[in-house]
Amino acid sequence: MIALVTGANRGLGREVSRRLADQGHTVLVSARSAEAAEETARELGRAAVPLRLDVTGDDLDEVAATIGERYGRLDVLVNNAAITYDTWQRAVEADLDVVREAAETNFYGPWRLIQAVLPLLRRSEHPRIVNVSSEAASLTNMGGGTPAYNASKVGLNALTRMLAAELRGDGVLVNAVCPGWVATDMGGPGGRPVADGAAGIVWAATLPDDGPTGGFLRDGRPLPW
Ligand SMILES: NC(=O)c1ccc[n+]([C@@H]2O[C@H](COP(=O)([O-])OP(=O)(O)OC[C@H]3O[C@@H](n4cnc5c(N)ncnc54)[C@H](OP(=O)(O)O)[C@@H]3O)[C@@H](O)[C@H]2O)c1
Repeated sequence: MIALVTGANRGLGREVSRRLADQGHTVLVSARSAEAAEETARELGRAAVPLRLDVTGDDLDEVAATIGERYGRLDVLVNNAAITYDTWQRAVEADLDVVREAAETNFYGPWRLIQAVLPLLRRSEHPRIVNVSSEAASLTNMGGGTPAYNASKVGLNALTRMLAAELRGDGVLVNAVCPGWVATDMGGPGGRPVADGAAGIVWAATLPDDGPTGGFLRDGRPLPW
């Protein structure tokens, strides 16, 4: 299996990459810095291949072409990279430049990358897309606060639903996965171990053909939209 993980140089992306590599899959560990991608791939061993990929970059088609030349297909895309857990602001007075910047990485980034690699995913026999989301995007439970982050993840969840419907006939399983509150740089101290958060993402990346699609899931169980 060939898997591509964005933001793979630290936090959940790194742990997801490590686990997929340990399972024997080829993992394109991508990071926006080439050095960070190379260092991570070295640490993770032979199954890990470094790739420079900034999800806001204008070279996503070239990145996809490189993957196509090397492997001819892509089996799994994990849209993990994200920014701006904006605990410092509220929707009523939010800096909309910050909201736009978060959307570029957390929402348009995954959307653009999916469009770029979709021809490669269509060449896979078991294509999977995992959009790493957050319960903060649940409209059912939505309160105030973290407006840039929440809005970007709501968009990502909507994208998950649309793509799951549009790609169902092609066998592409598309799910949004919340890792829970995890002790990473973004989550801060107090969250659960990275391994626990990564497990549900790896599960969604390696679903059997009759697995769920269009789901919003944590630890393999549905969350309220
Ligand atoms: N931690 C939690 O409690 C929690 C809870 C719910 C959901 N999540 C979600 O889980 C995912 C991973 O979060 P995390 O906690 O592991 O975050 P993190 O530790 O802050 O790591 C974020 C990763 O994204 C990368 N990244 C940022 N902008 C990028 C870009 N433009 N292109 C490529 N990579 C980029 C970062 O790279 P650099 O090193 O270059 O900055 C880093 O590797 C995110 O989608 C997050 O929203 C996390």
